[in-house]
Amino acid sequence: MVNILSVVFPLYIYPSSCSPSASSAACAWYPFFQSITANPSVLFNIIVNPNSGPGDLYTYPNDDWKAVLSYANSLNNTKLIGYIDSSPTNIPVSKYRPQVQTYKNWANFTEKDIHVDGIFVDDMAYSTSSKSYYTTFANNIKSVWNSSPAQPPPYIMMNPGQPIECAFYSNVDSIVSFEDYYPNLSKAAFIKAPYTNCPRYKQAIIIHDFNGTALDQQQVCDDMGQTFRAGNLFITSAIQDDVTQQNPYDEVPPLLQQFAGSVKATNSWILAHPQWYSDI
Ligand SMILES: *[C@@H]1O[C@H](CO)[C@@H](O)[C@H](O)[C@H]1NC(C)=O
Ligand SMILES: *[C@@H]1O[C@H](CO)[C@@H](O)[C@H](O)[C@H]1NC(C)=O
Ligand SMILES: *[C@@H]1O[C@H](CO)[C@@H](O)[C@H](O)[C@H]1NC(C)=O
Ligand SMILES: *[C@@H]1O[C@H](CO)[C@@H](O)[C@H](O)[C@H]1NC(C)=O
Repeated sequence: MVNILSVVFPLYIYPSSCSPSASSAACAWYPFFQSITANPSVLFNIIVNPNSGPGDLYTYPNDDWKAVLSYANSLNNTKLIGYIDSSPTNIPVSKYRPQVQTYKNWANFTEKDIHVDGIFVDDMAYSTSSKSYYTTFANNIKSVWNSSPAQPPPYIMMNPGQPIECAFYSNVDSIVSFEDYYPNLSKAAFIKAPYTNCPRYKQAIIIHDFNGTALDQQQVCDDMGQTFRAGNLFITSAIQDDVTQQNPYDEVPPLLQQFAGSVKATNSWILAHPQWYSDI
């Protein structure tokens, strides 16, 4: 099996007007669901983030959340991953483990399938000295998921937002090795030594401030999927502005449908020529 691109959605938009129906046009997540249902062969990893974490501990999320979670789970090409902040190593086990447990408990809910498939650890510190903290973090996620009633092994993605030593990859499924402005992509550190030796299929690339055309966006998907061989990709033209605190993840990407279609096209080419695309 040759590795192909998945999409990662940092979907930090509140799912307003999504209850009772997440598949209606009024639902704030409707454009995202459109891109998902239009591209059934593409896997979409959706980061869910009720409140910089699961929200209230040891309880279930509200009806808006239940609606989008269960609708996403009714599709075969989604994974849901719960957001937890690690505030570069400053959040102790006693604070993050209850959040992990709360996300895991969502699988207990019987009226709808609102389970999540794993955890997204944000604000990962990238210094070598933080290795044991993140190994412990991943081990806690795995042990919570494996505790009775056991769930399938969790999908774990961590986000330092820049490349990190290859040793960090052994414990997790994915690491965000670029979260940055599009104009920085061509000179980014992750495409240079020593980082080029880290597993490519475990790397997630998140691009904001994309200012090209839909055709340019297709080229970026080809570059990341076919040339670099990354595992996860997100592209948005939305803007980050640290001065006005404008966040690029709280609006629908203007070229969202084209992006999802481009990922599918990149993957179709790879799948048609697997001999050219070894896993690295
Ligand atoms: C989902 O199911 C459809 C129809 O059976 C199939 O074509 C598609 O490849 C599946 N998607 C994934 C990601 O498994
Ligand atoms: C869900 O199951 C877990 C065990 O995984 C249990 O500890 C927890 O109390 C249950 N939570 C709810 C809300 O039923
Ligand atoms: C990335 O792009 C932003 C905005 O264009 C710029 O301010 C910043 O200096 C760039 N970073 C690097 C490492 O080039
Ligand atoms: C995108 O922005 C960069 C940096 O500001 C600029 O150099 C480039 O010309 C812009 N590209 C387009 C297509 O507007």
